[in-house]
Amino acid sequence: MKLAVIALIPEMLTAVRNYGVIGRAFERGLAELTVINPRDFAFDRHSTVDDRPYGGGPGMVLKAEPVIAAVDHAKEQVGEGAVVIHCSPRGVPLSQAHLSRWIADGKPLIFLASRYEGVDQRAIDLRVDEEVCVGDFVVSGGELPVMMVLDALIRLLPGVLGDESSKNDESFVDGLLEYPQYTRPETVMNLSVPEVLVSGDHRKIALWRQTQARLVTEKRRPDLLAERKKTVLETDNRLESGNDPKSRKFHE
Ligand SMILES: C[S@@+](CC[C@H](N)C(=O)[O-])C[C@H]1O[C@@H](n2cnc3c(N)ncnc32)[C@H](O)[C@@H]1O
Repeated sequence: MKLAVIALIPEMLTAVRNYGVIGRAFERGLAELTVINPRDFAFDRHSTVDDRPYGGGPGMVLKAEPVIAAVDHAKEQVGEGAVVIHCSPRGVPLSQAHLSRWIADGKPLIFLASRYEGVDQRAIDLRVDEEVCVGDFVVSGGELPVMMVLDALIRLLPGVLGDESSKNDESFVDGLLEYPQYTRPETVMNLSVPEVLVSGDHRKIALWRQTQARLVTEKRRPDLLAERKKTVLETDNRLESGNDPKSRKFHE
């Protein structure tokens, strides 16, 4: 998959590029990454990329022209049809569904990480296709959010994970959080592994895991359960009206 990142601190991207399972994906050519610094596209002799906000107020704003030029350069690097994604607290909440869609579409992706108070809205209006937010909090620059998105995306690419089935059995995939996990030894500081997990009864283990997943989701993320229910209802309605050839995704 062809990827580009536009960032004012390109060095930060080495953390996602060089380590672990994602680093190996780059080594094996499953993903290619170009990192572009908008400062290289500033046209004054001080390479200025920020200026004060119109209307006043604190902080600085990333200027439109260097960002637009950097996006155009990124498009030349990754090829036509690229989708431009801005990581921003003002974006829609990022979910596993975004990642699956981007992978299924198979287009090159360009991620824009801004800094300061954000980027001049005209660069967004003219060049950005989607804006995503990685959580209801503000970090000081877009590099970390972009790195999170890259990691979450690349691990879903075919061939990246050792065991492909692991990505079908984890939090968010089926609208639930994952059940608790345990490994050896069987007892740690008087706390034992739930008996069912050492029973060898695979049917009982599956049932226990399903119940645990539901309980933790109910407690921590009731919004996910509500969304899951809505999906089932919508799919049932489509099936009843004969409009959906796909089988039902979630079984209650
Ligand atoms: C200090 S923040 C700007 C916050 C902006 N003034 C606001 O209130 O929405 C600088 C940059 O960090 C990135 N950023 C910060 N928090 C983020 C989040 N939760 N999700 C995605 N990107 C984020 C964005 O690229 C943002 O433009």
